[in-house]
Amino acid sequence: MKTISDITTLKSVLQEDRRGGASIGFVPTMGYLHEGHQSLMEQARKDNEIVVLSVFVNPLQFGPNEDFETYPRDIERDEKVARAAGVDYIFYPSVEEMYPKKPSISFHVHERAGVLCGTQRPGHFDGVAAVLTKLFNIVQPDRAYFGLKDAQQVAVIESLVEDFNIPVEIVPVKTIREQDGLAKSSRNVYLSEKERDEAPAIFRSLEKAEKAISEGEREAAAIRDIIISEIESNSGGIIDYIEVLSYPDLQPLKEIKGRIIMAAAVKFSRARLIDNKILTV
Ligand code: PAJ
Repeated sequence: MKTISDITTLKSVLQEDRRGGASIGFVPTMGYLHEGHQSLMEQARKDNEIVVLSVFVNPLQFGPNEDFETYPRDIERDEKVARAAGVDYIFYPSVEEMYPKKPSISFHVHERAGVLCGTQRPGHFDGVAAVLTKLFNIVQPDRAYFGLKDAQQVAVIESLVEDFNIPVEIVPVKTIREQDGLAKSSRNVYLSEKERDEAPAIFRSLEKAEKAISEGEREAAAIRDIIISEIESNSGGIIDYIEVLSYPDLQPLKEIKGRIIMAAAVKFSRARLIDNKILTV
């Protein structure tokens, strides 16, 4: 495994591999790798001859009051995890390498972005679309792997690739959880002990809602209420949003029908956690 920090070197090694007929699987991350990232790397390893992992905390997708500066970083640990998962190249650029000057063109994601995390994080998906467009052009992967924990991100990336004819197959991968159901996240390290005990209420609330749907509940507002009351009565977290929408178009629903997403964002003292469940009714 090689760690490469400059774009020219990465492009030239990948060009060699491509010439030899190797397929390239790409896993973009912001590092501080956990089992969620690992499952993306493992899937990429199964499907491709070459696996590229990027570790880049992308300033463009953080708002002014968000955690860009304090986002957890540990490249040495990441290198160990990546090597164990069979990664061939880690692309680990500096901010200057990715953005040598202020970009002259910006993205504006106007579908699938004005709900869920898009309302509380204006500009977030614009920054995600910009960095992924660059990364896709640098790596030119056959397949790119994304976690359904960030289901809205998957929906936006699918639009990006379709709208701009980017020649990459997007592969969604299911959410990896702790034993108690809490979705694995680099931000879980910010939780206090008490908050860590309470945080699984988010997933439990989604399971409770799923059960209600399987028992016949079809009113989206009632499902939303089940999720809210389960979280509020079992944790000190502040609800940022609870939404029940169509998936992947993320349109509001009155009646539960077709493919839907139930999504939650909850703020704890130092971490905002998200989770979701996608199901077909
Ligand atoms: P990051 O938060 O590091 O996540 C990288 C990838 O890991 C994303 O596709 C995310 O959905 C996936 N992931 C995170 N937790 C997961 C879990 N518990 N189970 C399964 N997959 C999980 O998402 C980003 O970085 C950035 O926005 C990025 C796409 C790299 C663009 O900067």
